[in-house]
Amino acid sequence: MLNKKVADLLENQINKELYSAYLYLDMSNYYYANNLDGFGNWYKIQAQEERDHAMLFLEYLQNNGEAPKLAAIDAPDKAFKTFRDPLAAALEHEEYVTSLINNIYAAALETHDYRTLQFLDWFVKEQGEEEKNANDILGRFDLFGSDPKSLYALDAELGGRTYSAPSLTL
Ligand code: FEO
Repeated sequence: MLNKKVADLLENQINKELYSAYLYLDMSNYYYANNLDGFGNWYKIQAQEERDHAMLFLEYLQNNGEAPKLAAIDAPDKAFKTFRDPLAAALEHEEYVTSLINNIYAAALETHDYRTLQFLDWFVKEQGEEEKNANDILGRFDLFGSDPKSLYALDAELGGRTYSAPSLTL
């Protein structure tokens, strides 16, 4: 049986991950509407990954005897004025998600919930990758984004991203 605070935080994380998927779909829509299909593809796949994250939290709770309540998902509310805006918003969002994961980790540590800590270890590592990816794209956009040919090449590269299922299975 999970500690109530830990279970509540894990349940809340389902919603946060689904919101992340919504946010990235919104970014994807923005880029597709502006003919940057590669950026659109990148964020569409990012949204798929976020849905996977939500399912992992859901299944972990199910496997531990919980029946998580599914709360309403907020609508994405960020307004994008430049091609750079979603990239900066994505980095900021991933830093926020890292803080959420760390918060659950701290609660699990406090209650000696080693099973949940082991489950969360994958997400701790994943957040490192998520932040690095977001930071890399933003950095490369700042270097090359103002040159149309370079932007075209970056868009083509991001268009090559393909979906792969998460390495964590429960
Ligand atoms: Fe589920 Fe992008 O963190």
